Amino acid sequence: MSINENKIKEEITKRWDYSSQRYDTYHGHGVKSDEEAAAWKVLFKQVIPGENLNVLDVGCGTGEMSRILADMGHKVTGIDLSEKMLSVAKSKSLRDIEFRIGDAENPQFNEGKFDAVVTRHVLWTLPNPEKALKSWRKVLKPGGKVVVIDCLWDDGRLETHLKRKIGEVMIRIVERNDISKDSYTAEVNAILPNAKGVSLDKTREYMEKAGLKDVRSIGLEDLVRIQKKHMPLRYKIAYKYEYYVIYGLK
Ligand SMILES: C[S@@+](CC[C@H](N)C(=O)[O-])C[C@H]1O[C@@H](n2cnc3c(N)ncnc32)[C@H](O)[C@@H]1O
Repeated sequence: MSINENKIKEEITKRWDYSSQRYDTYHGHGVKSDEEAAAWKVLFKQVIPGENLNVLDVGCGTGEMSRILADMGHKVTGIDLSEKMLSVAKSKSLRDIEFRIGDAENPQFNEGKFDAVVTRHVLWTLPNPEKALKSWRKVLKPGGKVVVIDCLWDDGRLETHLKRKIGEVMIRIVERNDISKDSYTAEVNAILPNAKGVSLDKTREYMEKAGLKDVRSIGLEDLVRIQKKHMPLRYKIAYKYEYYVIYGLK
């Protein structure tokens, strides 16, 4: 890793350390209801249907997806750059899950260890997404799956920007939380190829370039509809929730 890249990763880590205590309170990040947890399980069952799988949750953060996958009976390992995000994950007494520091672009595991690599809301924040996808394929068993959940939240439209500003002002007033402080610095944003989120087409391109086969995707409209039942208006205004899941085989 170059010195510049080291510095960028330090900045990225700092940002997530900073938001770690509030992360689960954010709608769309923290799983807010049993109905939402059940919907995630239905989705994972569809995408990775086996039992007792060895699953790597890359950029696991506070472990929300790790928890769902472990509840389904899978053996889960979560890696993240942020010690503080991992501390929150560990504090949920998720005894059967192994959480450890690790870089999504260079996971330190033997080749062919996992049945599935799952990652939610992480691809957009990687300086080298192509490299990351290749490394995820490497740690998979033959026939294993990479599963990416992400979205493009800034389509560059004036309406999107206005709504975001209005929603964030409402969040600041109601929650006394300046959510814009959770953003990356301009220096980091300039390095990230997908600082505004990753489109489905772009993710598909990364996956195919990494040599993943039979790449398929599903829109997450039903899951988002469930999330929105518990979501205050300010969050509905602020953010676009057009998530997808895309998965491919080694
Ligand atoms: C938006 S959060 C997503 C957390 C979790 N996956 C979820 O679905 O709630 C992004 C996470 O990616 C982590 N992250 C960013 N860059 C990373 C990298 N290069 N390697 C590992 N984790 C990284 C951050 O520390 C943060 O916890």
